[in-house]
Amino acid sequence: MSDILKNGEKWFDTEGNVLHAHGGYILFQDGVYYWYGENRLNNIYVSCYASTDLVHWEFRNHILTTDSAVQGTRVRADLSLKNEKGGKVNLERPKVIYNKKTKKYVLWIHYENGINYHCAAAAVATCDTPDGDFVYHGSFRPYGYMSRDCTLFQDEDGSAYFISAARENADIHIYKLQEDYLNIARLVNRLWQGEYREAPAVMKKDGVYYMMTSFCTGWAPNQGKYAYADSMEGEWSMLYKIGDKTTYNSQPAFILPITGQTETQYLYVGDRWGGEAYHESSYIFLPLKNHQKGELSLEWYPEIEMDAAKGSITGKE
Ligand code: GAL
Repeated sequence: MSDILKNGEKWFDTEGNVLHAHGGYILFQDGVYYWYGENRLNNIYVSCYASTDLVHWEFRNHILTTDSAVQGTRVRADLSLKNEKGGKVNLERPKVIYNKKTKKYVLWIHYENGINYHCAAAAVATCDTPDGDFVYHGSFRPYGYMSRDCTLFQDEDGSAYFISAARENADIHIYKLQEDYLNIARLVNRLWQGEYREAPAVMKKDGVYYMMTSFCTGWAPNQGKYAYADSMEGEWSMLYKIGDKTTYNSQPAFILPITGQTETQYLYVGDRWGGEAYHESSYIFLPLKNHQKGELSLEWYPEIEMDAAKGSITGKE
């Protein structure tokens, strides 16, 4: 089988089914890449696929569904996985990181009730294995702040951050998570006041943090921007444009560092949303380039050749 991915085309898992892992995240754990993402079919919320080469994806499990086990871990979280009309809620942009101390895989996700878009809450779930049935711990608003598009970032020292769009998406908040990653410890930053950035995706290279975001235009793609900082909690730069006016018809999902024997490259994963035709949504993989501090760029390639062992991502015309 080829190791070429065609950007924006329908991708299939190794059983030949459409790969539904939208707005997702890839966790690299014990030599395996786990791709988590939204799957809105039937009673499913989040699906998990596994790969060792980042090209061939084996379906593992629907890790969060309307029927997932529920267990409260804090007071006053909303534990319902269905809304008051008995329908599905909306769970968007799942991210999963591993907590070495508790040995738990911890998932954070954006929660809406499936009736309107006013809940603006974050929800948490955990599991003992990367692809098992996650236990849902409910949704809440961090310190009462609205919380929509979100991501997680785990630093080398084990500190983890939850980053989400607050104040009707006007500002981006960075929250440091407590040691078990199950709750927020501190609001450490409020970024780009009134710029309406969403779809945050973070990477770290040579000690510098970079965050890509989109503007706030629903399913329609727009100009991506990035910023950088010496510390998550410190001062972040202004926003700089990256990619073209539509970020090559995509919205950031996450950035994956791929460390091979000789080099580390950074993979931009974007959602190419189907909008009303949500299930037609596809993905784009592109190499992110960083030649000097504070500089990040993204070029378009219709095809990508991946070599996970080498850590190389090569764009093909
Ligand atoms: C986007 C958001 C997506 C989804 C969409 C719905 O702004 O990034 O995750 O919520 O709106 O319109």
